[in-house]
Amino acid sequence: MRVVVIGGTGLIGSKLVTKLGEHGHEAVPASPESGVNTLTGEGLSEILDGSDVVADVSNSPSFEDAAVLQFFETSTRNLLAAEKTTGVGHHVALSVVGTDRLAESGYFRAKIAQEKLIKESSIPYSIVHATQFFEFIKRIADAATDGNTVRLAPVLIQPMAADDVASAVGRTAGGSPINGTIEVAGPEQFHLDELIRKALSARKDPREVVTDPKAPYFGAQLGERTLVPEDGATLAETRFESWLAQTPVSTP
Ligand SMILES: NC(=O)c1ccc[n+]([C@@H]2O[C@H](COP(=O)([O-])OP(=O)(O)OC[C@H]3O[C@@H](n4cnc5c(N)ncnc54)[C@H](OP(=O)(O)O)[C@@H]3O)[C@@H](O)[C@H]2O)c1
Repeated sequence: MRVVVIGGTGLIGSKLVTKLGEHGHEAVPASPESGVNTLTGEGLSEILDGSDVVADVSNSPSFEDAAVLQFFETSTRNLLAAEKTTGVGHHVALSVVGTDRLAESGYFRAKIAQEKLIKESSIPYSIVHATQFFEFIKRIADAATDGNTVRLAPVLIQPMAADDVASAVGRTAGGSPINGTIEVAGPEQFHLDELIRKALSARKDPREVVTDPKAPYFGAQLGERTLVPEDGATLAETRFESWLAQTPVSTP
């Protein structure tokens, strides 16, 4: 199958392009660098022409409330319209476990808007809800940092390796549309505050993690199970400790 990977230069996108190729698909990476811009529509019809599947693993360059909403709404509208014109038969999108429970956050309101457009369109679709990537842990810490203190709630989190996320999206893109959402997650649950404490200490980061049940996560209050999947999620293999041991300290 010919699969266009929107955001094919990104963390998940570059791994996805490789994995699809290994499984015999023609994977076409698309991003502004290669002349495809989902915000302006530039290059979209040309690259989608003759394609079977679009896998959208793009992300907004800015997480500011208005910018991120504009990114996911405009780019998803442009993509779905171009898919309709060119006859693409499957739209696959990567989103986040718990998105619908996180509407207090501007980022997640944008992901809710993205998913709504997909569900309302006439293009057959599959949405993959993944938990937080191990690679994203530093960014979670940075967003919760004030001076030398990182404030985090002691809620459950079940993170996973970006490599396993790309495998899950690849399997979905290679299959038939489910017109629904599947959940994928890591093999172990942690408490968010403890996970970040462990990750910072492994990297000799001097910041202190303070446990605070009221600390927001990208603007949203968290309940005990907001970030973890329902029973029946597909569980990935890579454990946090083995990922940490294999990952160079300089990796963000
Ligand atoms: N972080 C997490 O823990 C987590 C968990 C679950 C799901 N997700 C979802 O995973 C997805 C991918 O995240 P990621 O970390 O892999 O993203 P990333 O590394 O930041 O990559 C973003 C990609 O989007 C492309 N892009 C940006 N603006 C574009 C535009 N106007 N037109 C076309 N492409 C554009 C970028 O292209 P350039 O390289 O040219 O900028 C890049 O290829 C996101 O949708 C996110 O919501 C994230």
